[in-house]
Amino acid sequence: MRKFADIFKDKDFLWGAGTAAYQCEGAWNEDQKGLGEWDYFNHNSKLNINHTDGDVASDFYHRYREYIDLLAEGHQNTIRFSISWARILPKGTGQVNQKGIDFYNRVIDYAIEKNLEPNISLFHYDLPYELAVDGGWLNRKIVDYFANYAKICFENFGDRVKIWATINEPRYYSYCVNVVGNYPPNRHLDFQSYFQYQYNLMLASAKAIKIYHDLGLDGIIGVVHDNGNVELAPETKNKKNVQLIGDFFYNRQILCPALLGKMPEETDEVLAAFNCLLYREKDDKELLAAGKADYLGLNLYNRQYLTDGTKDVTKVFHNNQGSRSKAKEGIQIHNLFKSAFDPKVKRNQWGREELPRVMYTALCEVQRKYQPKLIMITENGHGGYEQADETGFVNDEQRIKLTAEFLKYLLKAKSEGVKVHGYYHWSAMDLYSWINGYEKRYGLIRVDFAHQLALTPKKSYYWYRDFIDQYFSGS
Ligand code: BG6
Repeated sequence: MRKFADIFKDKDFLWGAGTAAYQCEGAWNEDQKGLGEWDYFNHNSKLNINHTDGDVASDFYHRYREYIDLLAEGHQNTIRFSISWARILPKGTGQVNQKGIDFYNRVIDYAIEKNLEPNISLFHYDLPYELAVDGGWLNRKIVDYFANYAKICFENFGDRVKIWATINEPRYYSYCVNVVGNYPPNRHLDFQSYFQYQYNLMLASAKAIKIYHDLGLDGIIGVVHDNGNVELAPETKNKKNVQLIGDFFYNRQILCPALLGKMPEETDEVLAAFNCLLYREKDDKELLAAGKADYLGLNLYNRQYLTDGTKDVTKVFHNNQGSRSKAKEGIQIHNLFKSAFDPKVKRNQWGREELPRVMYTALCEVQRKYQPKLIMITENGHGGYEQADETGFVNDEQRIKLTAEFLKYLLKAKSEGVKVHGYYHWSAMDLYSWINGYEKRYGLIRVDFAHQLALTPKKSYYWYRDFIDQYFSGS
């Protein structure tokens, strides 16, 4: 029987790549899978600016063996993927779909056979439709619904899966759903829902973690957070306040409950500044305290660079259109804080900073403030338009260059004592992007969506394979 302790015995690091169910599986209505919120949204909403969907996606559902073979041949020793809640429980609660269980058993068993340690997220944005119409994460009952779903997963897969995450990016998910409004159900600048959503997500996460621990399974369970650190622009006058509110807004409302088992002490003060109120129940404190994460997953793409708020109206800036738009990523919140723009930092085609040294800054800050026992970089990578040659090969030098820099900073942090022991490149293969459909590519493996989903490893795939080899050979 495999043991968790054996994972890090021979090798001190997990090197792999990530995926998420809706983004890669396809088979949206096969084998009794229930309807997901994203299925419904993409099929029906005029706000689906991608004009496409995840119906087929990268067809991981049928071709998982091919993908796993390629990842193993790339010398990766782990794979991150998520479970589709609606595949296990088609209506979110109630009847379990055995065919969904069978599918994930096949994937898990095959990954293990190929020496890829499975790292599974229970929730990566794809809420079952029936729960979405019932208020989604704003309905407090979802805490129990999620706990029930998590328990079913632990009972069915927990004998073999040793690394779990409850929720992928509760903060960014809530931000897109409630503030930007580019994820269903597209609420815009609704801060009350932004905060409540995250609070309910963290309660659900804590409840699932407690259940996992109570079951006495051999393994670890964590939370995956986006970000890590806030940096203030030098012109900032009210440094203390911008840091306090900004760090709560981007990090602490997730990292404190996840790693310290409690909401930050500044919660009420910050909520009041937004004229918002968090609805809590009397046992919540106990629940959060009992559901601390064993490790932290960090999805690291960029920092939050902030400065003083102004009298300007609250507004969010988001680029869903790549180089067709000049918009940069950011927000201005009336009188509280706003994103600062550093002209010296290069931005990608989606208006996001490309600043690899934040890998180091974020890792060090998280280690210092929260002292997690283990950190894994659960996402990091580069999204962009890509052109393949006539053989399907992509010479993605830009991805290699950026990833090499990010990894240099990761290893620097590790050498200085940060307990980081895993890295998952985002993404394993080209897949559906929530706001860019199939235009923006992240994968190490090219998927030709126009021609029978032909698979071709990119230059970065080979570069990553050699990087892993060098790491383990100590050169
Ligand atoms: C992360 C998500 O936020 O970023 C992934 O966990 C996502 O699911 C990735 O694909 C890249 O996001 P985007 O918006 O650039 O496609």
